[in-house]
Formats: sequence, C-alpha cells, structure tokens
Amino acid sequence: MSAILLCFVISLLRYFFLCSCDSIVDGNDRSGLLKKPDYKLSTPEMVMKNGYPVEIHEATTKDGYILSMHRIPYSPKSNNSRTNRPVVFLQHGLFCSSIDWVILGPGKALAYLLADEGYDVWLGNARGNVYSLKHTTLTPQQKDFWNFSWHEMGTYDLPAVIDYILARTRQQDVYYIGHSMGTTMFFVLTSLKPEYNTKFRLTIAFAPVVFMSDVKSDISKLAAFSRTGKQADQLYNSGIFFPPRTWAEHIQVACNNRTFTLCSTLIFLVAGFDPQELDPKLLPVILAHYPAGSSMKALVHYGQLMRTGKFQQYDHGRALNIMYYGTLEPPPYNLSAVTAPVSLYNGKNDWLSSIKDTEKLYSKLPNIVGMNQVPLDTFNHADFQWAKNAKTLLYNDVIKFMKNY
Ligand SMILES: *[C@@H]1O[C@H](CO)[C@@H](O)[C@H](O)[C@H]1NC(C)=O
Ligand SMILES: *[C@@H]1O[C@H](CO)[C@@H](O)[C@H](O)[C@H]1NC(C)=O
Ligand SMILES: *[C@@H]1O[C@H](CO)[C@@H](O)[C@H](O)[C@H]1NC(C)=O
Ligand SMILES: *[C@@H]1O[C@H](CO)[C@@H](O)[C@H](O)[C@H]1NC(C)=O
Repeated sequence: MSAILLCFVISLLRYFFLCSCDSIVDGNDRSGLLKKPDYKLSTPEMVMKNGYPVEIHEATTKDGYILSMHRIPYSPKSNNSRTNRPVVFLQHGLFCSSIDWVILGPGKALAYLLADEGYDVWLGNARGNVYSLKHTTLTPQQKDFWNFSWHEMGTYDLPAVIDYILARTRQQDVYYIGHSMGTTMFFVLTSLKPEYNTKFRLTIAFAPVVFMSDVKSDISKLAAFSRTGKQADQLYNSGIFFPPRTWAEHIQVACNNRTFTLCSTLIFLVAGFDPQELDPKLLPVILAHYPAGSSMKALVHYGQLMRTGKFQQYDHGRALNIMYYGTLEPPPYNLSAVTAPVSLYNGKNDWLSSIKDTEKLYSKLPNIVGMNQVPLDTFNHADFQWAKNAKTLLYNDVIKFMKNY
C-alpha cells in the first residue's frame, strides 16, 4: 500500500518536474550556443556559452558504470600559465547534476567563482543521472541498471572519479564540496574505505544528509513508508524522472512570472520555503534540468534513514539482510573512521538537513574543522546551489576558508 502511495507521489513529481536531456556537443561552436536558450543547454554547453574552457572526462567504476565529469580547468579571468592548480571536486545532490553548480551563471555560480580563484574545477555526475547513463554491459532499459542506492555511489563512483582525477592532475589530494547526497556519498566512502581519507585535503559539506530524524518536509517523509523484503527489492529496481525532452519547452511557457508561486511550490515543499532567493527568471531553466534522474533505491534508502534515525546500509528486510550482511539489521556506517577534515554548512530553514541532525553528525565525526550556519533565516536546502545571493551569503566565505586551509 505505502509502496503504491510512494509510486503515485513519484509519478506526480515526475509530472511536475520535467527535465530536458539534451545531448552534449563537444565542438567549439560558441556562436551557435549563444543563440540557444539556457534551458536547452547541457552543462558543457552552458560553460562554453559563458566563455569558460570545458572538458568532458569519463571514469569507469568497478561495477561497470561509465561516469561523465565536467571540468573547468581554468578561468579566462585568472592566470592560465599557473601550473599545479589545486583541484576541487564538486558532487551534486539527489536528482541533480553537474549543471546545478553553474546554473546561476558567471560571477555567481560556485564552479565559476572557484575557477576565477585559480582552482581546477571538476564536476561529478553520479550514476543514473542524464550524464552518467552508460555502462559496460547494461543499459538503462534493464532493471539491473537501477539496482543501486547512494551506497554504491559512495563505494564505487567516488573512488573511480577521485582516482581518475588524481592520476590525471598528478595531485596528492582534492578539495571536496558536496551538497546533500554529495555529502552522504562522501561519508559512505570514507567510513567504509578509510584509506581514502588522505585523498581529501578538506571537505565542505553543504546541507549534510546523514541522520534524518528531524526532517520537516512531509512530502519527503513519504519515502519512509517504503517496504523491505524480496518483492520490494525487485520493485525498487527502477529509475525515476526521465521526462521527454519536449516537456522543457512546455515548462518555459507554463512557469512564467505569474505562475511562479505554483511552479516553485513543489521545490519549496521539499527544500523549505524561500521565495526571496529563487530568481523567477531562473526557475524555468532549473526546472528544465531538474530532476536529472536517479534510482528509486536511492530515495528508498533515504526513507529508511528517516524511519530509523540511523545512518546505515540498505535494509533489504531481515531474511535478505542475513544473506547480504550476516545480521538481521543492516550494519551502520562507522563515522569514527572519517578522519578527513570536514567543515559543515547548514541552512536555518532547511527542511531536509536540520541543525539538530547536523549537530548529531558533528558529535560523531573525529575531525571537524568548521560548523557554520548561512546567515539568512529563510535559507533552504536548494539555496546552496540556486540562491540569488549564494555568493555573498555562502560562497565567498567558503572560498576564503579553502584558501587558508
Ligand atoms: C602568471 O603565473 C606565472 C607563474 O606563476 C608568473 O610567472 C606570471 O608572472 C603570472 N602572470 C600574471 C599576469 O600574474
Ligand atoms: C542487486 O544487486 C545485488 C549485488 O549488488 C544482488 O545481490 C541483488 O540480487 C540485486 N537485486 C536484485 C533485485 O536484482
Ligand atoms: C517579472 O516580475 C518582475 C517583478 O515582479 C518584473 O520586474 C519583471 O519584468 C517580470 N518579468 C516578466 C518577463 O514579465
Ligand atoms: C570504527 O572506526 C574506528 C576508527 O577507525 C575503530 O577504532 C572502531 O573499531 C570502528 N568501529 C567498528 C564498530 O568497526
């Protein structure tokens, strides 16, 4: 019953949140791009349109997923000849993609600001989003393709991309900036594969999602009603949110100034209300790219964290847990093993990542170097990437902290 309810809500969300899945152009035809509206552009196209250099890289995970990374190697505004640029890797949240780090545009979006400051910027794309749909043997049409949660993104995707980047740039370590699920993936990796801790010089965790006992978004809490067991395991092997490309056009017409309230409400029901920081002109562009796709299991796994209040591996139901883990309950992730330095950032009006849950995380991590609240009472979960004033409210502070680290 609850699973059906969940599926219903998903289809509803799917109807409202529609993304365009444009293919990536790899050429240098900037003049063509300048004529194309932003909602039709992929991440590399958008970066190129804005006059920044961009590269597309692929890394293959141990379990066969081929992940795209988008790199802004330097900024036209900074000194190109400087070698050994420090690497910063940015990992998006659930249903998002690399585009969310550039969507605010130059002078405003974090990826551009970091490039301007002399960083070699790499944007990740977790398995199952529009840029990471390739696999060595599977296709997205097959159910087995979707048999993953953020556990696999942490244990397979991150090692593949971090090792690739370190080999390619000949650096010893990276700065890691994760938003939401991007933080979950980081904690999964560093708790289960502690040898990776030294590969992170500093980790900035935006809206960390680890403990979820204080979630205020009712629509998100629906995920907690999901079932466990053999049948549920089968049921959840599916991908979500792949609307046809043509919908992006309709969104542009449907979500104008007058319908701003209607179109933005679903974002706010998940993230917390903050209409002031969401630019009405940007909203149709955001909705054309969001959601960028992920697996049903990733959502269900979050539902389990909400239900239990614990940060633990995927619960398949008791019988299957015994088979997979040798225990009735799934094993918890051991946060004491996370020795990489971490700085946490919270929004005061974040309906998914609350200050209370973040304080619990703070108490478990052995190497915390910062605990910050963005100085705006309405700052929500999505504002970390989409807020009009994210630069002055948050990014300037983050970059200053990184430079001194
Ligand atoms: C650019 O960096 C190089 C190497 O660090 C330095 O020699 C040069 O003076 C810099 N140029 C400018 C314009 O800052
Ligand atoms: C999902 O993958 C795991 C291995 O990671 C496998 O043991 C399990 O049977 C798969 N589940 C389904 C429903 O195919
Ligand atoms: C949208 O509304 C704002 C003020 O609320 C106004 O300045 C702007 O011109 C409007 N844009 C369009 C396209 O109507
Ligand atoms: C968790 O990690 C810490 C630090 O590596 C270790 O001392 C401890 O034994 C681990 N706990 C469990 C239950 O594995």
